[in-house]
Amino acid sequence: MTSRVGKITIRNPLLLASGILGESSGSMIRVYSSGAGGVVTKSIGMEPRDGYRNPTVYEFESGMLNAMGLPNPGIEHFSDVISRTKAAGVFTVGSIFGGDENEFSHLAGKMEAYGVDAVELNLSCPHVEGFGSELGSSPERVRSVVGAVRQAVRIPVWAKMTPNVADMGSIAAAAEEAGADAIVAINTVRAMAISARLRRPVLSNTYGGLSGEAVKYVGLRAVYEIGKKCSIPVIGVGGVRSGEDVAEYLVAGASAVQIGTAVAERGPGVFGQVADELSDFMEREGFSSLKEMIGIARR
Ligand code: SIN
Repeated sequence: MTSRVGKITIRNPLLLASGILGESSGSMIRVYSSGAGGVVTKSIGMEPRDGYRNPTVYEFESGMLNAMGLPNPGIEHFSDVISRTKAAGVFTVGSIFGGDENEFSHLAGKMEAYGVDAVELNLSCPHVEGFGSELGSSPERVRSVVGAVRQAVRIPVWAKMTPNVADMGSIAAAAEEAGADAIVAINTVRAMAISARLRRPVLSNTYGGLSGEAVKYVGLRAVYEIGKKCSIPVIGVGGVRSGEDVAEYLVAGASAVQIGTAVAERGPGVFGQVADELSDFMEREGFSSLKEMIGIARR
């Protein structure tokens, strides 16, 4: 089950996605003890932010829509969370969001000093003005943010991509050229829910990000497409709920996956279940390592 993402080795390919249970050391340690290969923190910015008012989440049968508004305690208040999580031996990726390359570099430097194993750049939140996909939809801005962070830190730099663009491959290629060590794909799909009875949008922010089962096929397409343009590892995200879902992402070209909505739906125990299912799948299909599966669909 050992997974390699560039120079990093992880005990298994199942990581906690940013945004779910990633704000306290207690919850991240619990996720790791439940069988995750590692965790990605909630996205952390320069200052504390309250986020949007409720309703911020809308759940339905095949997924979830959320617009939290990047609530977080601010980077200066996150050092203890990282040190406690790392002290428990958890493979920890620090997710950060900023408004420009200077903010991203500052945040990445802080995360590195706090002790994270890698930093994930949120270039993809689909609904907060001035952040996320506003930067991540432009190859030039992605190149400049990733390049600045690359200069600022020695730890691996992962760039998390938005699916809400015409050509994800070119944007991922810009991140690779600027020095990213891995591409994470995808963040949520920009969407909205409407209540006909209330005659209004459901979320307070009107627009949100769609995740879960409903987006698995967008994620698979993104991983496959990015793999054709990039040679760095790709980490697949979107709708992973079973061992066979993981296998699909690996065969599409992912080196590892992140799980978010399924953890919100079923709790941290989902990591152990998915790992067992993946192992059964590999045994049935005659695979003895993850490496044998990665990218077969592209050959
Ligand atoms: C949020 O905080 O609203 C979600 C963040 C993201 O989608 O990256």
